[in-house]
Amino acid sequence: MNITKTTAALLTMAAFAGTASAMAERSVQTLKENWQFCKGADFDARKAQNVSVPHDWAIYGPFSRDNDLQIVAVEQNGETEASVKTGRTGGLPFIGKGVYRTTFELPDTTGKSITLVFDGVMSNAEVRLNGKEVARWPYGYNSFYVNVDGDARPGINNLEVACENKESQSRWYPGAGIYRNVHVVTTDKVHIPTWGTYITTPEVNKDYATVNLRMKIAGASQKNDWPYGEIIGVRTEILSPEGNVVASDSSSYVSRGQDFAQNFLVKNPELWSVRTPELYTARTTLFANGKPVDVYDTRFGIRSLKYIPEKGFFLNGEPTKFQGVCNHHDLGPLGAAVNRSALRHQIELLKDMGVNAIRTSHNMPAPELVELCDEMGMMMMIEPFDDWGFRPKSPNGYGAVFNEWAERDVTNMVEQYRNNPSVVMWSIGNEVPSQWGEPGMKELVMLQDLIHKLDPTRPVTCGMDQIKAILDNGFAAALDVPGFNYKPQFYEEIYQRLPQHMVLGSETASTVSSRGKYHFPVVMPGQDGRHCDMHPGNQSNSYDNETCGWSNTPDIDFARDDDHEWTLGQFVWTGFDYLGEPSPYDTDAWPSHSSLFGIIDLASLPKDRYYLYRSKWNKEDETLHILPHWNWKGREGEVTPVFVYTSYPKAELFINGKSQGMREKNDSTHQNRYRLMWMETRYEPGEVKVVAYDANGAKAAEKTLRTAGKPHHLVLTCNRREIAADGEDLAYITVQVADKDGNLVPTDERKVSFKVSGAGTFEATANGDPTCLLPFQNPEMQLYSGAATAIVRPAKTPGQLTFRAQAPGLRPATLTLPVK
Ligand code: GAL
Repeated sequence: MNITKTTAALLTMAAFAGTASAMAERSVQTLKENWQFCKGADFDARKAQNVSVPHDWAIYGPFSRDNDLQIVAVEQNGETEASVKTGRTGGLPFIGKGVYRTTFELPDTTGKSITLVFDGVMSNAEVRLNGKEVARWPYGYNSFYVNVDGDARPGINNLEVACENKESQSRWYPGAGIYRNVHVVTTDKVHIPTWGTYITTPEVNKDYATVNLRMKIAGASQKNDWPYGEIIGVRTEILSPEGNVVASDSSSYVSRGQDFAQNFLVKNPELWSVRTPELYTARTTLFANGKPVDVYDTRFGIRSLKYIPEKGFFLNGEPTKFQGVCNHHDLGPLGAAVNRSALRHQIELLKDMGVNAIRTSHNMPAPELVELCDEMGMMMMIEPFDDWGFRPKSPNGYGAVFNEWAERDVTNMVEQYRNNPSVVMWSIGNEVPSQWGEPGMKELVMLQDLIHKLDPTRPVTCGMDQIKAILDNGFAAALDVPGFNYKPQFYEEIYQRLPQHMVLGSETASTVSSRGKYHFPVVMPGQDGRHCDMHPGNQSNSYDNETCGWSNTPDIDFARDDDHEWTLGQFVWTGFDYLGEPSPYDTDAWPSHSSLFGIIDLASLPKDRYYLYRSKWNKEDETLHILPHWNWKGREGEVTPVFVYTSYPKAELFINGKSQGMREKNDSTHQNRYRLMWMETRYEPGEVKVVAYDANGAKAAEKTLRTAGKPHHLVLTCNRREIAADGEDLAYITVQVADKDGNLVPTDERKVSFKVSGAGTFEATANGDPTCLLPFQNPEMQLYSGAATAIVRPAKTPGQLTFRAQAPGLRPATLTLPVK
């Protein structure tokens, strides 16, 4: 159990202070350890397993073709007849019921208020406290809370959470169980309730910003002698990113249950942006009868958002295109169980690629992700669900509860995240079939109006795919920001016809590729960016030339962003590969069970495509990347095209010292505009060298790839230099093979085994192969295109963690990591 307490010694509170030693306190216990879990509807102590939360019961497998086998026509992919969809939700056993139990202790409940906060339970949660049902929440992705005053008691409290997942409830892997954190919040009877503050910064300029803080105050007595309710003192200090008080207000409030607001002026504000993610804190102290009773921190940022017709999106007055990715919530081999350091690793990789925004497709994120985006400078489009009530895509998915729950779910989402500066836009849905007709318009208006009421500062969008219908029936025109999934060839027409005078690529590309797998001959797509090919072994081409029937290669989306001021930018499908939806190998194509859309694979290893986006989006660092690898025994003399993804405009290629000519980016095709391609080069073992030139024609950088010799030793690289001794701060170790001279062997696919000793344990492993059925939790993995990832977990006490990898026929490798 983690307990954090917020206290404030209130020495400066002349107006309301009681004694100088008065302390206001709220405590948050996060219930991580000492849970028991039982699969099935009833808790059976004999079968219960000890687990810690966050927990995903299904990620342990085993994989099976029969898990959630769906027979369906995927209408949004243009299918008209039902067929057997294998691996659509990851082939993992998430269906069924499960029960969790734990206890927590409360020293005293007199004069206190107790709230249970669930960051997310997958799904259909039923919460029982001391034997009594206190809450139910069907939607697995949303956070919810329940006040348990009257049901919580001093001493030990018994908490039980039951959940249930159904077949056909999802189009991707949802995870299973209490996969996000659970908190017990204890406050004084008079307190600011969960998500009870709302901060806006109505005026932002370089000299000053105004800050408006609205809050709810719960628990004050409602006296009958109107107009006098209980008088509550409210003091708020605005703390700068450095922790200095830069503004403050002390007021009193007559509690009649209404909201209370305070206003501040912050001089010379430090603005939140992608590059400078500066965060302020509003620290609010409540006083009842002159005594401090609650301290509540609201973290926020000062930044301005403007969506301007014809001109696009402006962050703090600067024109900014969304260089975004869509992501599902799973963390590959960790499943859905949330982990802050795993999310941080994802954001670090994305930022290095030049990504500035994430769309949480198609569900509410974990709070940890939003906090990290605030802290690391990553904008967010938060989206609640994939289905509305009318003609849902997943028969047992959100559509089944939409009419009853959508208002509550959207309210929680907005109240929870409307203070986070990273959030710059709300989405209300994704490719909902009701966009075709009248019910869709009613649903749209209900959702958009609700969000406008809860948060008038951010616009609302929706990912739409039925271009003709939504242009004709008014659906697209009704949104603040029209969001389009794919079909960049229609952007011009969309722009001409819509009254918003701007177009957002809410979902783009859906290019498919398998890391390190290349297929010949290499056929480039036409001007619509489409080219679909299927290969034995169910691996797509890493030349980044393959798409599904509805999707396109990245180049055409780049061109739309470059050519039109009125495009707001895009969110690529997807940043990371995810469990489920193995298109185009989704129709009776087991063992394919994870996606090929990711720019980064399921093992968090970048594919070639990463460097294509990086060459365009990362404006601070150079990119110079060559593909394919140069180990083609048996292809000697055969045409083996070479592509270079680079931030430089031109380059010359050499194979074994012989020039293959200069290539310069040009407008002849979408691909030629963004890639340097030598389509006719022939393979011969040896050396491929690229020499890049800058815009002035000066030699700027070079890079060489060599054919590898005999596999000789293992190579380990780690994303961290040290990790925290907190039991949670994961490190990602990449395992590769090199020849005796250190050249990587990208074709080696032998099995490698791992051993962790000292201050930590082995957590999980993956190789990024969407067809691999090896369990993620065994300390061994088959290399895929010469690499795999092992994830290690630190102990809770400091020391040194030692990781060792070995494989038959190779010199083993060891890596040590301080755990501090
Ligand atoms: C979109 C959909 C996504 C995903 C993607 C694959 O139509 O919104 O959830 O299915 O296609 O290309």
